[in-house]
Amino acid sequence: MTFDQSVKIAPSILSADFADFGREIQAIEAQGADWVHVDVMDNHFVPNLTFGPPAVKAFRKHVKSVMDVHLMIAPVDPSIEAYADAGADILTAHFEAGPHIHRTLQAIRGAGMKAGVALNPGTPSEAVAHVLDLCDLVCVMTVNPGFGGQKFIDMTPKIRALRAMIGDRPIHIEVDGGVDPTTAPKVVAAGADVLVAGSAVFRGGSVENPAPYGENIRAIRAAAEDANP
Ligand code: DX5
Ligand code: ZN
Repeated sequence: MTFDQSVKIAPSILSADFADFGREIQAIEAQGADWVHVDVMDNHFVPNLTFGPPAVKAFRKHVKSVMDVHLMIAPVDPSIEAYADAGADILTAHFEAGPHIHRTLQAIRGAGMKAGVALNPGTPSEAVAHVLDLCDLVCVMTVNPGFGGQKFIDMTPKIRALRAMIGDRPIHIEVDGGVDPTTAPKVVAAGADVLVAGSAVFRGGSVENPAPYGENIRAIRAAAEDANP
């Protein structure tokens, strides 16, 4: 399979109706989402709590594209098998979640998933320099993790540095937090190819009225593609 470097929009279901995840996932995919981004929070690593493996396994039945699971939990390693069993395609752990990111990335791949590493805004790009060959994705957080709807923190120098460090290796750069049609072009121009967006995709729509999801996705994609990376 060839590596897909085109811009991919990954709506975060953190901004969906929590009582209706199945239909929300179907709606965003029907409206043009490339991946489905699933934010797992533990009320320990981050000050918010979402859902765990049984819920993610239930989401899997509705995801036809790529289920991109972002773990904001610590520790990570005891839960890796459970997320493999839940059907995650990509499992991303935070660099800051523990001292053994190398072991964690090996274990994620060992469990048959693609492995991602996420970097908080305060963590430098160099943190992943020696684990890139164990990564399929690097997620650059452009907010402090825990909540949707926060203001974008400009991390374009970090994205640029990562793109240079990655070279021609088949590793995605994902940007997560505050992505909308205004911020998307900057991060794509710097080298990102996966855009996570929660509030900017779900605003104005619902499962009963999903057309705004499509308009929002197309607006982010059009702005990003104008960036001509
Ligand atoms: C934040 C999450 C994000 C969040 C993005 O901790 O990882 O995925 O849902 O939400 P927006 O796009 O609203 O900033
Ligand atoms: Zn996320």
